[in-house]
Amino acid sequence: MSFLSVERLNKSFGDTRVFHDIDFAAERGEFVTLLGPSGCGKSTLLRCIAGLTSVDSGRVMLDGEDLVPLSPQKRGIAMVFQSYALFPNMTVEQNVAFGLRMQKVPSAEARQRVDEVLQMVELSGFAERYPHQLSGGQCQRVALARSLVTRPRLLLLDEPLSALDARIRKHLREQIRRIQQELQLTTVFVTHDQEEALTLSDRIVLMNAGRIVQSGDAETLYTAPRDAFAAGFIGNYNLLDAQQAGKLLGRSFSGQVAIRPESLRLSQDPADGIAVQVLAHSLLGNVIRYRVEADGVELTVDVLNRSADRLYPAGSRLALTIDHDSIREVA
Ligand SMILES: Nc1ncnc2c1ncn2[C@@H]1O[C@H](COP(=O)(O)OP(=O)(O)OP(=O)(O)O)[C@@H](O)[C@H]1O
Ligand SMILES: [Mg+2]
Repeated sequence: MSFLSVERLNKSFGDTRVFHDIDFAAERGEFVTLLGPSGCGKSTLLRCIAGLTSVDSGRVMLDGEDLVPLSPQKRGIAMVFQSYALFPNMTVEQNVAFGLRMQKVPSAEARQRVDEVLQMVELSGFAERYPHQLSGGQCQRVALARSLVTRPRLLLLDEPLSALDARIRKHLREQIRRIQQELQLTTVFVTHDQEEALTLSDRIVLMNAGRIVQSGDAETLYTAPRDAFAAGFIGNYNLLDAQQAGKLLGRSFSGQVAIRPESLRLSQDPADGIAVQVLAHSLLGNVIRYRVEADGVELTVDVLNRSADRLYPAGSRLALTIDHDSIREVA
């Protein structure tokens, strides 16, 4: 049996069903990400695991024990929220030590454990500061330290990085992953950011409208999306209906067809492929993302941004080639 296993979990608020028969598992030391659009039930699921929200039916098994009847304090779980939720009138050290005081850990040991986790999140010099003297990223590291110090059996992270700017977010997520691996801490991380999920996780659980659509490692979800939702949510696939795909690719399909934007190529030689016209382009750092139109079908094409290549402005008439191995029929 897995270290954490969520079994047939159901939750409604009044008449509104938030999620339905949720099943997923995490092995000991695994980093599992719940990924899905806003409102699909990620936070509610995490709160149900932590015991902050009651469940209607189902089990949450941790290390062989059903947590559902236990109060949040008895579950051995720590949770970090999207908002920092630090005590404003306590120093960093007091904030981090708070859980240990509740557990009546002797003060000498508490001090040592607080020092240890502050070092882990690279905030050793900040013990005497108050939350208002910290940046957003530093506050989130204090919140992380506060949850690590109690040595939880399970760490739950609900979009802990979403309020931070892109650069800090990237740094902090690497730090979280490093600490998680060092401590071999079983972690469930919630995000609606596919890139974050792909870079961090041992396993991704993709949710939509209160159900699990697909779960697997990043490679599987990226290269083998199970349905049109998964293809649209992860990897920015082009989704064509059977008729559009037939017209474009010159063979018949029974269902929708997904084509990854980086498996399409543009060239200036019309003999090379399908005639397309550039509608627009945007620069995504090392990638140029083109919107092109081919015989009434709009497509996204991702091209590596190399300084030697010229940018094709809107209106350019080009040829499009498709790597046929990358074409996937989806339900
Ligand atoms: N206490 C509540 N009472 C009634 N409905 C609620 C309550 N909490 C959440 N919901 C509803 O449950 C659904 C799922 O909410 P939840 O916060 O779990 O989504 P989420 O996936 O975390 O979204 P986001 O990415 O925006 O944080 C939403 O439709 C929300 O309105
Ligand atoms: Mg949420």
